[in-house]
Amino acid sequence: MDQQIIDIEARTWRLDSTDAKWIAALEAGKVLHFPQMEFALDEAEKQILTPAAQAPGTRSITLDARGRFKGAAGDPGQQAVIAGMIGRFRAQAQDLVHSLLPAYKNTLKMATTSYRPLQVETRVQSWRSDDKRLHVDAFAGRPNHGERILRVFTNINPNGIPRVWRVGEPFEEVARRFLPRTEPYSRWHAYWLRAQFKTKKVRSEYDHLMLQLHDCMKADPEYQKTAKQVTIPFASGSTWVCFSDQASHAAMSGQFMMEQTLHISVDDQYDPQSSPLAILTRLKGHKLV
Ligand SMILES: [Fe+2]
Repeated sequence: MDQQIIDIEARTWRLDSTDAKWIAALEAGKVLHFPQMEFALDEAEKQILTPAAQAPGTRSITLDARGRFKGAAGDPGQQAVIAGMIGRFRAQAQDLVHSLLPAYKNTLKMATTSYRPLQVETRVQSWRSDDKRLHVDAFAGRPNHGERILRVFTNINPNGIPRVWRVGEPFEEVARRFLPRTEPYSRWHAYWLRAQFKTKKVRSEYDHLMLQLHDCMKADPEYQKTAKQVTIPFASGSTWVCFSDQASHAAMSGQFMMEQTLHISVDDQYDPQSSPLAILTRLKGHKLV
């Protein structure tokens, strides 16, 4: 398989310079891996590296785009430390993305920042929400009409435990394999879902196909085993960046991670033709949004 993970030796979050090859690789759905880019914690932050930092029944601790902070446990002092750590990570992730992708700077939208203190491998989930299966990100309740999902991840495990991912085949190969199995799009059903408040916007054919790809991949145990893939242990103290709506990925194990989500429209990419929307539009032969 063509190399799906690109190692970059930078150590500082604000890169001294970028490289057109890194940008092209990222937009082609590859994972940019910065083995030495560490998110350093102060003493107070090291004390909150415990699952007890997270409120029971929540999926992660989050700071959303509007600055709303949710999911933290503990007294106000502890919550302030957690919020501070998440805010600092947001600023550093933003530095990285702006210096890596300068042309995105004015149109990139900041979304949720998360701190994930729970262990991945012990989580019990339905097959559809089991992120230990290879998938591309697509969210049933949040149609995005092709807008991109860019993510920055950092492993902050204090015991040197890696965050292990599997990374699968390129998006176009996923699409060619599973598109013949997808159910047809129904505009009426999409309007019904919106009317029932099951989706935040009307689901476009693009959103429908992305969800179908996500589900078909996860529902196929043979594909999970035999698909072209690499396993990569992202070490503690490392950072990685990908378009998670395009890079086929599975999070197998690990604990204590920071994650930043950002959005950008396809038209503001360096190469809009590399996007899942362009690829699916080409393969289907008609407009999808
Ligand atoms: Fe995912």
